[in-house]
Amino acid sequence: MSLKKILKDRLGSRISEKELLMVRRSFEIIGDIVVVDIPDEIYHLKDEIVRAILTKHKHVKTVLRKIGEVRGDYRLAEYEIIYGRETETVCKEHGCKFLLDPTKVYYSVRLSGERERIFRLVNPGERILVMFAGVGPFAITIAKNARPKEVVGVELNPEAVKYFRKNVKLNRVENIVRVYEGDVRKIVPELEGSFDRILMPSPNNAQDFVDVAVTKAKKGSIIHYYTFAGVEEEKELQKRVEKLFSRYIKCKAFFMRRCGSFAPYVHRYVVDLAVG
Ligand SMILES: C[S@@+](CC[C@H](N)C(=O)[O-])C[C@H]1O[C@@H](n2cnc3c(N)ncnc32)[C@H](O)[C@@H]1O
Repeated sequence: MSLKKILKDRLGSRISEKELLMVRRSFEIIGDIVVVDIPDEIYHLKDEIVRAILTKHKHVKTVLRKIGEVRGDYRLAEYEIIYGRETETVCKEHGCKFLLDPTKVYYSVRLSGERERIFRLVNPGERILVMFAGVGPFAITIAKNARPKEVVGVELNPEAVKYFRKNVKLNRVENIVRVYEGDVRKIVPELEGSFDRILMPSPNNAQDFVDVAVTKAKKGSIIHYYTFAGVEEEKELQKRVEKLFSRYIKCKAFFMRRCGSFAPYVHRYVVDLAVG
């Protein structure tokens, strides 16, 4: 349910239509932490907003107010704690548990549907590379829900790597998932052999790492490429991504879909490519 709806139900006439219009986005529930976006103009309603959230979601122990957009290499936003203290939580997804702290690492529950799409595509025995692996949600949901031979995850943020390693143990996939800490530009070329499937879930800058990804692809590999794009670019996007990869390898982009939104009229897209 959107924050707008919760506030309207709870505050009724105590919140004006003008103030309600300022509640721009829905909120995100990560385990027992809620992340909200409260614009400055309605900051005076902060305590009411917290009470409204707690009434609706009794298990919530911390409410974070997002201040500023996700940015930097680690893709982190700044937060203000407006309720509670603890910022570490366990989030459940597709039979897996993810321990994480959203103030230190990137994680989005909104990608859960895309993760399911991916693990359903995996054939038994595949060797999979997850670049930009975060705390491990793609790697671990694949290891738990499909039957890959091996999943290799590479992540730069040391805090995310710490949680990724803990999550591998928590989900008992030590025999399948291997975690590497560092820049994909350095780590990936050092990995042995090629991969059946390569994921590039870093929509803001995946284009800068296409040359790295292709070194680990072979005939028959599938690449899942993520990018942000405006709705007006949608028609040409699949072709554009295919062209980006075709500078290095023979490939065909055969599928594309939206898998999240970034800003008004700007979405996260995934493009699937077949190599060879
Ligand atoms: C958008 S997040 C995606 C995280 C994860 N795949 C998920 O879905 O939750 C991108 C991740 O890539 C990591 N990252 C950024 N640049 C990197 C690089 N050059 N090499 C490895 N990881 C990188 C960031 O720290 C961040 O965790």
